[in-house]
Amino acid sequence: MSKHPASLPRPPHAPPHYRGPERRNRRADDQAWIEVITQMDRIYADLVRYQVELEQKNADLEDAQRFIQSVISSISDVLIVCDINGQVQKVNPALLEAIGQAEAEILGRPLQQLFAPEYHALIEGFPEHIRSDTVIDCEVSLLDHKGQPFPLAVNCSPRYDHDNRLSGFVITGRPLGELQKAYRDLQAAHETLKATQQQLLQSEKMASLGRLVAGVAHELNNPISFLYGNMHALADYERKLKQYLDAIHGGIDEAKREALRKELRIDFLLSDMGPLVEGSLEGAERVSSIVQNLRRFSMPQQQAAESFDLIPVIERAITWVLKASSRSPRIERQLPEHLPLVNNEGHVHQILINLLQNAMDALQDTAEPAIRISAGEHQGLAWIEVEDNGPGIAPEHVSRIFDPFFTTKPVGSGTGLGLYISYGLATEQCGGQLSFDRSELGGARFRLELPMEHRT
Ligand SMILES: Nc1ncnc2c1ncn2[C@@H]1O[C@H](COP(=O)(O)OP(=O)(O)OP(=O)(O)O)[C@@H](O)[C@H]1O
Ligand SMILES: [Mg+2]
Repeated sequence: MSKHPASLPRPPHAPPHYRGPERRNRRADDQAWIEVITQMDRIYADLVRYQVELEQKNADLEDAQRFIQSVISSISDVLIVCDINGQVQKVNPALLEAIGQAEAEILGRPLQQLFAPEYHALIEGFPEHIRSDTVIDCEVSLLDHKGQPFPLAVNCSPRYDHDNRLSGFVITGRPLGELQKAYRDLQAAHETLKATQQQLLQSEKMASLGRLVAGVAHELNNPISFLYGNMHALADYERKLKQYLDAIHGGIDEAKREALRKELRIDFLLSDMGPLVEGSLEGAERVSSIVQNLRRFSMPQQQAAESFDLIPVIERAITWVLKASSRSPRIERQLPEHLPLVNNEGHVHQILINLLQNAMDALQDTAEPAIRISAGEHQGLAWIEVEDNGPGIAPEHVSRIFDPFFTTKPVGSGTGLGLYISYGLATEQCGGQLSFDRSELGGARFRLELPMEHRT
């Protein structure tokens, strides 16, 4: 049996008192009453059911409304719902906040009144646009409570009723103030980024300049030391020759003159002057070509190749390194008579100087220092190896040997650029390879490989 809501009166279940004379008639009447009562009970039960269903539907409707309301309220963009004539039917809190008015003040008003006067004509045309199904997407300004423009990027879409008939339109508007602020922030971030990039570029330029100066200084160091050595020797020769000539001009007798000649080693001195001057000129030429090639350090580019014999270049490199050093290790040569190449002679010379200089440096504390230099050709490649019996390269340094500024030498005595420069010259400028491993002499072995024919 259904429950009895308080709002419905309880049906009469008992028949009223009946005082009819005849028993048969009374039974028929009773039957009629029973049917009426049953019928009423059924109707009452239906009524109760309808009421319960109605209450449920009402609750659902309220839920749905609350849900829609919460969604509308949570939208930060402006929302305006209008009927087909452009009268405001519903707005969201974001709109009310933007214009500083209460909902009751604007419902039923023409839409354009919410906007700045210059947009009235445009907004009055919205219903027309909606009917003709054209897309509305534009920038307009609301008027806030002080009458100041509140810019919005709006778009407008049609709204249909349950019979799918056009019943109005919905305007959504994104406050441009926020977008403009985001844009300004982005612009500021971009400016900061540009400034940082500029600084980075500047410091990278300074670093490159530092590398350039250090690289040039590294390459100039050797020919200049060589020139110094030669100039000191020439100054000594000049002093001795002057002494000898003064003696002759002073009328020295022949025996004394001969003795002086031997003592001052005048014959050796005269024979050594030619090569000394020649070597000094070579050194000066090298200095001048390094200076001319300054561009190579800042903008690496391949230099013109020339034909030359590698063997004299090796010999010259040995002479230079030995002359600039106070020590003279045993030099072991395993060289062919000639090894013709087409490449850049200056670069090859510079690489060999750096390799030999490193070998000399590594032999600083070796009791019987020795350097072996060998060369040959193999499958179209010329190879040159420089090895020594020094301590070799420590395993923990192997991966950093070619890095710029990596040095194990005391501060002031090594720049750590020799191998970095040599590697760049060997691979990028000469089209070859530079590698190293352990020498059977005990120290390091560096191997330079160069194409016999220069490839550009
Ligand atoms: N023959 C070698 N034996 C042992 N270690 C070597 C040898 N050649 C190079 N090295 C190691 O490699 C490092 C880097 O050599 P690189 O020629 O680049 O710079 P550097 O010789 O230290 O400085 P710079 O060339 O300016 O004099 C050296 O400090 C040394 O530790
Ligand atoms: Mg070096």
